[in-house]
Amino acid sequence: MNAPELGLPMAVPAEGLPARVRIHEVGARDGLQNEKATVPVEVKAEFVRRLAGTGLTTIEATSFVHPKWVPQLADAERLFPAVADLPVELPVLVPNERGLDRALALGARRVAVFASATESFAKANLNRTVDEALAMFEPVVARAKGADVHVRGYLSMCFGDPWEGAVPVEQVVKVCRALLDMGCDELSLGDTIGVATPGHVSALLTSLFDAGVPVDALGVHFHDTYGQALSNTYAALRHGVSTVDASAGGLGGCPYAKSATGNLATEDLVWMLRGLGIDTGVDLGSLVATSVWMAAHLGRPSPSRTVRALAGPGDDSDQEK
Ligand code: HMG
Ligand code: MG
Repeated sequence: MNAPELGLPMAVPAEGLPARVRIHEVGARDGLQNEKATVPVEVKAEFVRRLAGTGLTTIEATSFVHPKWVPQLADAERLFPAVADLPVELPVLVPNERGLDRALALGARRVAVFASATESFAKANLNRTVDEALAMFEPVVARAKGADVHVRGYLSMCFGDPWEGAVPVEQVVKVCRALLDMGCDELSLGDTIGVATPGHVSALLTSLFDAGVPVDALGVHFHDTYGQALSNTYAALRHGVSTVDASAGGLGGCPYAKSATGNLATEDLVWMLRGLGIDTGVDLGSLVATSVWMAAHLGRPSPSRTVRALAGPGDDSDQEK
């Protein structure tokens, strides 16, 4: 048991958890894709730079999607080169070969395709059926692997869907298998609308393991709509999952899924992991400062409880930019 430091929880390890967790930071992509007003590209670049300065090693930078579908990220061609020199991994989303071409032209070394476990969201997000979307990803994954580029496969609506309700576990397992068989290096299980609870997370992970999916290939991506993201993360850690997606300050949502709110806040995650004695390499103080800085640009306080607790009154949206 380590002595507590100011602004940090006491480290009290629990048994059976991973020794280290890799945080896949999605604030600049999942967070900013959902802002009503597009954030200026210079501010986005500074955000990514500050995030890299906190010790985060994987920072999802942007998406090479159709600019009409996600206008907030239409500046990907300007943002990526502005941060490409950073000594961190900078994955980007690519839905199709056109997106891959754009990403490869700028030297991206990590890309992510994004599938759906449900037909309704596949249609809303990609204008495709589930199978058509998988067919669209196949050449993307093959070409990326051929260029020695790491490929993540997101899977949305793993727990519930705003149009279809509860999503059967078998349906999720089937699309996960398809993404892995296609050649994805890792999967990220998305609770796009935040309806998962820990028992459901446990049931899905058990089914995935039964279907031969290795734990090292799995990451979790929880949105915090019902305040369950941290509990769900803990359930996943207990199953050995050691890649966790989170967004600085709890920014986020999905423009094509109405009930999606922000992701699990990275600060809340770091606080819990630190308390469990799990190493992340992230400096919580500079992460909080980064989210306070971003909140000032967005004009509203961060929803993260940890940011609010550590930043103190008056430090949020009314702070000087
Ligand atoms: P579509 O309208 O069917 O496109 O959209 P298309 O394939 O018919 O092509 C139409 C035109 O778009 C063509 O131009 C293409 O070249 C162009 P034209 O020949 O007519 O002049 N085009 C592109 N231009 C630039 N970049 C591209 C691109 N692709 C086509 N990449 C499409 C299909 C997939 C493009 C569209 O639906 C799309 O861009 N969707 C992206 C939606 C999105 O980004 N959603 C948010 C990310 S997912 C998420 O947030 C969930 C996640 O966080 C996990 C979770 O929480 O669950 C990951
Ligand atoms: Mg998301």
